[in-house]
Amino acid sequence: MKLLLGILLIVGSSVATHFISSDDLQKVFVRYIKNEASENDLQIVQDALAIYWPVSSAPQSQNKRRPGESVDCLICRSAFGALFDLVREGASDQTLIGSVSQLCASLGFVTPRACRGIIELNIPILTHIIKTTPQALPRTFCGLVLQRGDDPSFCPYDDPRFEWTVNLPRRSNRRMKRDSESRNTPLTIAVISEAHIDPLYEANGVADCNEPTCCRKGQTPRTQTYEFTGESLIEDGVTRINNKDMLNLGIATEIRNRTKVKQVDRRNSPPAGFWGDYRNCDTPLWAYDDAVQRVASAHRNVDLVYYMGDSIDHHVWETTYELINDVNAHVIDKMRKEFGNNVLVLPSIGNHESQPTNQFAPNTVRGEKLNTTWLYEGLARKWDFYLSAEAKASVRERGAFAMRVRPGLRVISMNNNVAFKSNWWLVYDPLDAKRHLEWLVRELHKAELADDKVHILAHIPPGVHDFTYTWTREYNSIVTRFASTIAGEFTGHTHGDEFKIFYSLENGRPVSVAWGAGSVTAYTNYNLNYKIATIEPRSFEPTNFVSYIYNLTEANLTPNVRPRWFQLYDLRSAFGLRDLSPASMDALVRRMATERNRHLIGLYSKFLLKMSDRRWPYCNDWCKIDNLCRSVVTVLWRREKCEELRRLFWF
Ligand SMILES: *[C@@H]1O[C@H](CO)[C@@H](O)[C@H](O)[C@H]1NC(C)=O
Ligand SMILES: *[C@@H]1O[C@H](CO)[C@@H](O)[C@H](O)[C@H]1NC(C)=O
Ligand SMILES: *[C@@H]1O[C@H](CO)[C@@H](O)[C@H](O)[C@H]1NC(C)=O
Repeated sequence: MKLLLGILLIVGSSVATHFISSDDLQKVFVRYIKNEASENDLQIVQDALAIYWPVSSAPQSQNKRRPGESVDCLICRSAFGALFDLVREGASDQTLIGSVSQLCASLGFVTPRACRGIIELNIPILTHIIKTTPQALPRTFCGLVLQRGDDPSFCPYDDPRFEWTVNLPRRSNRRMKRDSESRNTPLTIAVISEAHIDPLYEANGVADCNEPTCCRKGQTPRTQTYEFTGESLIEDGVTRINNKDMLNLGIATEIRNRTKVKQVDRRNSPPAGFWGDYRNCDTPLWAYDDAVQRVASAHRNVDLVYYMGDSIDHHVWETTYELINDVNAHVIDKMRKEFGNNVLVLPSIGNHESQPTNQFAPNTVRGEKLNTTWLYEGLARKWDFYLSAEAKASVRERGAFAMRVRPGLRVISMNNNVAFKSNWWLVYDPLDAKRHLEWLVRELHKAELADDKVHILAHIPPGVHDFTYTWTREYNSIVTRFASTIAGEFTGHTHGDEFKIFYSLENGRPVSVAWGAGSVTAYTNYNLNYKIATIEPRSFEPTNFVSYIYNLTEANLTPNVRPRWFQLYDLRSAFGLRDLSPASMDALVRRMATERNRHLIGLYSKFLLKMSDRRWPYCNDWCKIDNLCRSVVTVLWRREKCEELRRLFWF
């Protein structure tokens, strides 16, 4: 047997260097999982994982290249390739769950429990897609999850199914006349997002634990940390030889040598705060309740509430249908209790609501542990009080709805989680995301013909790297086409408090703005916030946003006292804005980039980071321009506006 078929041994320099291709590594993984690995295979797996470890545990950054990223891509393709081989050889889900969990646990950077949980939840979906989708390829899965905002050629997948366009109806002159009954007093909308409730949160519990998310009852403290000083080594992790990317196993020993294990001194990790914690912790139930009570009692004039989604925690390896259902019910019931029956609450679905997290199947998928119907039907029942019969039918079908909420105003709550790069079902049917946009176009067109204005609610804001390129491009042309109908877009997801300006791809003109909500969770290193939007009663365009926060450090000093909420900013007066039109916001970001004393761009980051003690003091010029840059990118890889701002800022 030619066990080392793909391994070249190059003895040129003083160090021996071993290279292995993705295909050969894939075969080694397969033998490893089937318990057929030779001594040599075991060594290769250990070395590959030793190289992978520092790469994958380096802090995530949206646009900046991390050293050795191509290592991620190569190892991801080998791992998925191995999974494909095993599924096609007939391996059962149970077998795969057992052996892949073991492999994951041997990496050592998540506990065996977290490994098993995440794999148990995801394997049935992955194997179903592999079995039923002839076009599915390992490179597509990897290209999607590892997609970068700054480099279209990184870890590419070239599946033609991912290129599509949505037909846009022509503008029609025949329009209905708006009913004249519209009111003259402005509308007040409370915008609340990202509850991320951990129903098992433990005040004074373990906030620095050995799992990815902490502060939950029963978790154990982290005892070790790793210090790695070999970043420059991993840059050479992958080399191109004969037109093939090869993993350089020769650096594994040196990488191990450069990794120092340090014992954690628990005296430096204070317990979890009562009102929440800046570390990797979700929101205590009582902190969410406090936030909703506060909004309702401090703003008696609220007409509508927009809730932007993500009610569920980040303990993604142990989510259950029961906990998700309970929390989803609590989030909406609490709002109804506090705001009363006269305030309409309009929610949208976040990527954390599904089981497992991020997975949103097309509605033709019906199987157990596969379908998303259970969520849509459950939410249609929980939102029953607020939605029309038609809206509920639409939620059951696609997790999205459109509803006329005032004479002249419709709300379209989208479910754009279907196009999120971490949704495996994209590989099964990339056109499901297209069908969601076609539905959006139909609803926008109906509104246009009725001369109604529209507020779009969508959990994930498009832009930096979360969606497929096609989806962001098509969404941008829809927004451009219906710019005179869309009076505002409202988004969540990022936890930072930011806005995004849409520019026409044809002429570069600013056409629309998506207003990020921020979060009522501290996850991670943020203060909590909510916003009050004032809406002009005829155009239904926002005329102002006021954001409220509290200082979590301060709140946790007095667990028995309710947090002291205060106004962080009033958008119009903070930036001296006459209005919040796309053109004014575009002029503002340019002013921020050029203003000499950098006061305005500093304010933007202060607000975006919600004055968090853990973030704001560390936001230097690089951080400020990165934050600003994100506000002008809404199409993946179209970074012209961002580069323009960078040039203005630095010169
Ligand atoms: C580990 O690194 C140290 C210091 O750089 C070096 O002296 C030692 O020889 C290395 N050991 C191995 C096994 O590479
Ligand atoms: C969807 O999945 C859930 C959870 O596995 C299951 O209880 C339900 O029966 C499934 N629904 C359909 C229509 O198959
Ligand atoms: C938040 O409160 C803490 C404790 O009172 C204080 O030290 C800190 O300066 C406050 N942070 C801000 C940004 O005001």
